Amino acid sequence: MIIAVDGPAAAGKGTIARALARHYGYHFLDTGALYRMVGLAAIRAGGEPITTVSAITAAKSLDPSHFSDAELRNEKAGAAASIVAVIPEVRAALLDLQRNFAKKPPGAVLDGRDIGTVVCPDAHAKLFITASAEVRAKRRQIELGAADYAVVLAEIRARDERDSKRATAPLVAAADAVVIDTSEMDVTAAVAAAIDAVEARR
Ligand code: C5P
Repeated sequence: MIIAVDGPAAAGKGTIARALARHYGYHFLDTGALYRMVGLAAIRAGGEPITTVSAITAAKSLDPSHFSDAELRNEKAGAAASIVAVIPEVRAALLDLQRNFAKKPPGAVLDGRDIGTVVCPDAHAKLFITASAEVRAKRRQIELGAADYAVVLAEIRARDERDSKRATAPLVAAADAVVIDTSEMDVTAAVAAAIDAVEARR
């Protein structure tokens, strides 16, 4: 059983995907963290702006033990991730790792941007978690603490734009995905809606 959870930044997909993995006793993979690691590793090796060569080299020699949770979560890592994520060779280098993870018994939940469309097009259940840019910016601002709302909103919009307009594996709901808009939902309601959607596909 593979559950694909896709959607834009700060829509709640990480929270929902983790809750689904807990609920079903499945493995969980935050695929955004892989792109964040590649972005940070590319900066460490080649500085900024990130070059295509440093990003591809970083993707081919990824070592998760080199990164702390705190540095992966900050917006610098998110922005770097969305820059390296447009490079087809970077995406290709991360594909096998994600597909092998998805096959782990008894099941796996993967969250990202292209899980239902590219990584696991045969996933049993596909969810596309979204929310308005304003609501997502508000949530991210609270998560980050002191950040300025206007700055956070601009960053979210820039990341949406980069993720949706790229040629390779753009952010888009799979034709057979269940779309859940969490703009008006709290975490409990969003998780309940996600479980309902998965149950309908089992
Ligand atoms: O989900 P998260 O915010 O951690 O993702 C960071 C960035 O990594 C995204 O903005 C996107 O550009 C990229 N990404 C991707 N494909 C995935 C997961 C993340 O392109 N499956």
